[in-house]
Amino acid sequence: MASPSEDPYPWQEPAKPVSRGAFIVVEGLDRAGKSTQVKKLCDRLYAEGHNVKAIGFPDRTSPIGKMISSYLKSQTEMDDHAIHLLFTTNRWEKAQWMKDQIAHGYTLICDRYYYSGIVYSAAKQLPSLSLAWARQPEVGLPRPDRVVFLDLDPEAAVKRGGYGDEKYEKREMQERVRELFLGLLGRGGEESSDFFVVDASVGVEDVAASIWGEVGKVVNAVEGGKWLELGSVGALEEEGG
Ligand SMILES: Nc1ncnc2c1ncn2[C@@H]1O[C@H](COP(=O)(O)OP(=O)(O)OP(=O)(O)O)[C@@H](O)[C@H]1O
Ligand SMILES: [Mg+2]
Repeated sequence: MASPSEDPYPWQEPAKPVSRGAFIVVEGLDRAGKSTQVKKLCDRLYAEGHNVKAIGFPDRTSPIGKMISSYLKSQTEMDDHAIHLLFTTNRWEKAQWMKDQIAHGYTLICDRYYYSGIVYSAAKQLPSLSLAWARQPEVGLPRPDRVVFLDLDPEAAVKRGGYGDEKYEKREMQERVRELFLGLLGRGGEESSDFFVVDASVGVEDVAASIWGEVGKVVNAVEGGKWLELGSVGALEEEGG
């Protein structure tokens, strides 16, 4: 946690009254440009007078986050269901804090969220770890006002300096992850209505401009009270029921 003096975005008095902050998630494959764009988006929102905090998952600072970090570096082994639930727990342990920040007028820009959580687990293709199984413990978490999906072909991602050594940074895994992300978009329900897809293969400034075109509007609408209160992730509709 940064001490107040290190906070890149200290509280500033908003120009207009703010009913609540917005909750914006940036998602995508490894190397899609998420961290680059989260920083640019926070900088721009702050420069335009919004209060903002950058967050990300997994949050490796908590005891559970340290277990996740050790797993990702292949320093410890863990059952696939168990590690999935630790990733979920890592979000739940931050959920109340997130709601409090949003209620106090901070817009949260979040680098990965439960969408990564469920597609990376489901990409392991275990019969007992379906996407629906993986999603169930996420139900009730704060629901983003918008999810920016940075879409990039894994082939293009590799060219960005290649993957690192962590567990999921393998080409076949990334291909399956992309298919599952696009599957979330295609099946209806809250993921498809919340996602905003951006072509992440173009230059950094062009990607930033596309994101701003959508997120600037959403943040202004949310802060101005034109949107409802913060939602929560809902259960999937029963298929055929
Ligand atoms: N639009 C872009 N075009 C070309 N290179 C880019 C673009 N956006 C980011 N990069 C470069 O690609 C690399 C990965 O970017 P970044 O770290 O933002 O991605 P990420 O999605 O956060 O990755 P990870 O999943 O590994 O955290 C960096 O070297 C970055 O400078
Ligand atoms: Mg990153």
